[in-house]
Amino acid sequence: MTGICTGRVAAVTGAGRGLGRAHALALAAEGAAVVVNDLGVAADGAGASTGPAQEVVEEIRARGGRAVAHTDDITTDDGARSLVTTAVDSFGRLDALVNNAGFLRDRMLVNLDEDDWDAVMRVHLKGHFLPLKHAAAHWRAEAKAGRTPDARIVNTSSGAGLLGSVGQGNYSAAKAGILGLTLVAAAELGRYGVQVNALAPAARTRMTEQAFAETMATPTDGVFDAMAPENVSPLVVWLSSADSTGVTGRVFEAEGGRITVMEGWRPGPTTDRGARWAPSDVGAATRELLAAAEVAWPVYGSRLSA
Ligand SMILES: NC(=O)c1ccc[n+]([C@@H]2O[C@H](COP(=O)([O-])OP(=O)(O)OC[C@H]3O[C@@H](n4cnc5c(N)ncnc54)[C@H](O)[C@@H]3O)[C@@H](O)[C@H]2O)c1
Repeated sequence: MTGICTGRVAAVTGAGRGLGRAHALALAAEGAAVVVNDLGVAADGAGASTGPAQEVVEEIRARGGRAVAHTDDITTDDGARSLVTTAVDSFGRLDALVNNAGFLRDRMLVNLDEDDWDAVMRVHLKGHFLPLKHAAAHWRAEAKAGRTPDARIVNTSSGAGLLGSVGQGNYSAAKAGILGLTLVAAAELGRYGVQVNALAPAARTRMTEQAFAETMATPTDGVFDAMAPENVSPLVVWLSSADSTGVTGRVFEAEGGRITVMEGWRPGPTTDRGARWAPSDVGAATRELLAAAEVAWPVYGSRLSA
């Protein structure tokens, strides 16, 4: 198996199912040796199984690729550290980290338990930070030893993080946090030869096939299956490859055959009176600014988007 990742080693979290599995298979097909991480949890994060990671490793090997399973929890310091050491011990190096593992605990905010908040923040936000931190520490050591890497991190956000999503306050906050983390990591790690980008995918997996059954339905024969998770992976593979030189701190949407660069927060209409405002004057001035500003994009699932 050779391609744009030949000679590179990639670690993919949550690669036992869904999008992560598709990314792992696509990276291997393009020549990368892959560490397939998956804790094998249920759709709400409960339980654990080594089965999903092992099955993907077997699939990659059956196609002639190189892969090894890592079945620890990447939201623990030990699990995140051993993800990196597994790559180095098994294949001698690490070139790309794809942070992807996650699960949902959807509730309206008034019914959202503290446990559901903590679990979702932990798996997505901490589950991105810890592998990123250990991979970055490894690459900094490499750079200091005179072996500056050509390394990549690809983080997984969501439309929920970009625009908000009704019933997903915990998930939207975590996925928006991943965007901030991506920007800081890109700014901090460039000096060590590490590029960091994020994507917001959309695809048919167990996370979406019921909630968005109509959008996610498999089409009839011959029609492009736009919601197949495999459609998202080519961008992930390219961002993981040496070919993506110079691309860092960016956020993309990937769905079907479409790749979109998302353009983020930036100053819009502004006013400066050169002195402190009186509260009674703020209203008129702010309404004038809002009238000149772009209309905010609707939150997913809100009445505004109907
Ligand atoms: N499917 C979509 O349309 C969509 C949209 C936006 C964002 N995403 C994001 O894409 C990523 C992949 O989601 P998916 O749709 O493929 O879901 P999925 O449930 O099919 O796969 C997620 C995998 O992560 C694993 N996992 C969960 N917690 C883990 C942990 N602590 N350590 C290691 N592995 C763990 C699970 O066992 C599972 O195999 C998630 O971050 C999700 O939020 C998906």
